[in-house]
This record gives sequence, structure tokens and C-alpha cells, in this order.
Amino acid sequence: MGALKINDISMRFELPDGSHVQALQNVSLNLEKGELLSVLGPSGCGKSTLLNILAGFLAATDGVVTLDGETVTGPSAERGMVFQQGALFEWMSVRENVEFGPRMKNMPETERNTIVENLLDTVGLRDFKDKAVYELSGGMQQRVALARCLANDPDVILMDEPLGALDALTREKMQGLVLDLWKKTGKTIILITHSVDEALLLGERLLVMAPRPGRIFKEYRLPFAERAVGADLRVVKEDPAFGETKKEILEMIWEMEEEIMGGGDH
Ligand SMILES: Nc1ncnc2c1ncn2[C@@H]1O[C@H](COP(=O)(O)OP(=O)(O)OP(=O)(O)O)[C@@H](O)[C@H]1O
Ligand SMILES: [Mg+2]
Repeated sequence: MGALKINDISMRFELPDGSHVQALQNVSLNLEKGELLSVLGPSGCGKSTLLNILAGFLAATDGVVTLDGETVTGPSAERGMVFQQGALFEWMSVRENVEFGPRMKNMPETERNTIVENLLDTVGLRDFKDKAVYELSGGMQQRVALARCLANDPDVILMDEPLGALDALTREKMQGLVLDLWKKTGKTIILITHSVDEALLLGERLLVMAPRPGRIFKEYRLPFAERAVGADLRVVKEDPAFGETKKEILEMIWEMEEEIMGGGDH
């Protein structure tokens, strides 16, 4: 399970002054189960809006999203979200955060314990089970956020800049972890990022979105994510094709930003 169909989605926000923002216009995309998609694009091009519609937090003005044939009408455990930071329950321990979903489903304690143990092992936090969230570093907190999302066994994992607040080294480790999870769990994953390197590494498919109105500008199919599983990410990045694609995408986004700034002539 985990086939996501985005069928001609548009999103228009009406503003109090009577004007409106066309955050998304005619966005269509089909994701097969187990596909790993990264999304790039300048600020304001509708990335978070798209993810929030897929999560069911927002209702699109037009268009339909289906997961395995079922129309998405609101939030559900089958579509898990991981935010940039700060979305954990600060007053709960690591274990309580991870078992939150299973507890809400009234899963028996022994079963819950097994899930928590396994997931904390997977994200490398076995010894931190009883720590409070505030005692953890930013990177560890994002591992907890991932484990908490996985505890619901979602078919689709939606991530909005999940690694954006981390230092470079921690970020690299977490990129490896996301790739491992992708391979190990076979889940469909969509990851928004502002880092072109990250999008190239963590996307067997990569969408570049454009603003005003928010839309899909270009899509790539890339070999790097597959190569990067269990490998040294820096070696994968050394491939000349990686550098060339990076340059092409950077130029594309710079051009969009110049247009936004009203430029192009300076
Ligand atoms: N609730 C809202 N009401 C009005 N306008 C909104 C609302 N949410 C988003 N927008 C507008 O929709 C557009 C897309 O916003 P969105 O947050 O999806 O962009 P983004 O690509 O995620 O940007 P960033 O990279 O900065 O996170 C922006 O112009 C934003 O101002
Ligand atoms: Mg955003």
C-alpha cells in the first residue's frame, strides 16, 4: 500500500483584503508504492501547501488526491508527517513520544513495547528511551520524530524540511538514515528540502516547483538515491553527473528567484 495519485490539484487562498494567492495550480503527479520523491523550489512556490493537502490538513480548492484508490479527505495515520522541528511532545519522554500513535489505537502494552524498542534501535536511540525530549540534541529529536511517525506504520511519509535545522555532519548522517529507512520499509516518501544536494541524494524522483502560481516546473529521475543506500554519500556526490544536475537545478532556481525579485535585467 502507498500508491499516491495527485490529480489536477489547485489551491487558492482568499485573503482578508479581497485579493488571493494561487498557491498551487493544476498539480498532477502519480507516485508508486515505495517511491522516494524530493521536492525543491523557491520560497513560496507551494511546497508546504502541497504536503499539507496530501496530509489532509488542508482541503484543495480543486482536484483530488487518492491513496490506494481512496480519496483523501482529512488527516489519517496512513499518511505520517515529519516537520522541520519542534513537533514533539516536550513534556513526554522519548518512549512516550514514539508510542503515542499506538497508544491512541489502544494497542496492548507488550506490543507497544516491541514497536518502541525496534524503532529506537532503528534510529540509533536505544539508550535514550527514558530521556526527556529537551535533553536531546536537535539531530536526536529529529530521529525521535521519525520513529514516532514510523510507529503508526504509515503507507506514506511526508517530510517538510525535516533536516533543515541540523548542522552539516548530523544532517549527512540523517540523510543516510532516511535512505536506509526507505530501503528497509519500502514506504512511499516525499521530502521537501531547500538543499539541492539533499534533493539529489534523497530523490529517485525530484520535482522542481515554480512560484506564482505554484506548479511543477521540471521532474527528474535520478540514480543517486539508489546508489547512496549504505554507501558513502560524499563518494556518490563526486559523480560528474551529480555536479552537472546540481548546476542545472541551481540555475533554474536562481532564474526563478530573479523573476520574483522583479529582476532579470541586473
Ligand atoms: N494559510 C494561508 N493563507 C494565505 N496564504 C497562504 C497560506 N498558506 C500559504 N500561503 C501562501 O501560499 C504560497 C505558498 O506557500 P507555501 O508555504 O506552500 O510555500 P513553500 O514553498 O512551502 O515556501 P517555503 O520554502 O518558504 O517554506 C505563499 O505565497 C504563501 O504566502
Ligand atoms: Mg514550506
